[in-house]
Amino acid sequence: MTEPQFSIRGLIIAGTDTGVGKTVVACGLAAAAAYAGVSVGVIKPVESGCMEKAGRLIPADASILLEAAQSGQTLNDVCPYPLKAPLAPSVAAKLEGVSIDPNDIVKIVNEALFEFEFTLVEPAGGLLSPLADKLDSLELARLVGLPILLVAPNKLGVINHVRLCEKSIRSSGVLLWGIVLNQPSATPDESALTNREEIERFVKAPFVIELPYVSMTPEMSWPSRELMSPLIERLR
Ligand SMILES: Nc1ncnc2c1ncn2[C@@H]1O[C@H](COP(=O)(O)OP(=O)(O)O)[C@@H](O)[C@H]1O
Ligand SMILES: [Mg+2]
Repeated sequence: MTEPQFSIRGLIIAGTDTGVGKTVVACGLAAAAAYAGVSVGVIKPVESGCMEKAGRLIPADASILLEAAQSGQTLNDVCPYPLKAPLAPSVAAKLEGVSIDPNDIVKIVNEALFEFEFTLVEPAGGLLSPLADKLDSLELARLVGLPILLVAPNKLGVINHVRLCEKSIRSSGVLLWGIVLNQPSATPDESALTNREEIERFVKAPFVIELPYVSMTPEMSWPSRELMSPLIERLR
């Protein structure tokens, strides 16, 4: 057997909130890792707000993660629980009569960990958003034994959100692998100039990496390998 290229087997890509750039970061990482010759599996265990096409729910995040990772998984492997309502997954599932089994999600992640050299899991919402009864991103990380890459938006208020998440992660015994301070806005506010420094001062994390605003195109719908290289270097 050849030596694994990466020092860890996977990451839970958790957010301080929804819409902070988890999918953007996960896709950038998946594509860069795949380019480096690492086999990458992706899991978006539960996705709400799916569009219906030909009687089938299409999970958008799962689709783009799959495209970035080029893993050969099926959409159903990536997202076993697609839901229609654009609500918190636990609420959408209840509305749609779907029962989400945390053990099933743990099993799916474990299977990906077995099959791929590196597995990226993007749960829904923020760190403590319920995915099901007794399951959120943090609990999933604990159950499958993966560290967390925390994605936070570089805007006013982020220091508080990162500190709250760090306290929760620390108290659960899960490893905080690092923080991506992401810029999802083309017009950053003034705090973006100093947030990183403040987070480094107040939060114990191995690193805080800034990801700038990237203008996405249909040809380039995630950050470039160059932008992801600081993260890839830390994985080696
Ligand atoms: N660095 C970035 N540059 C440009 N747009 C971004 C960036 N990060 C996020 N976005 C945009 O912000 C929105 C939310 O990002 P997304 O990755 O879907 O968040 P999440 O997965 O946390 O809900 C998307 O429209 C995405 O394209
Ligand atoms: Mg997402």
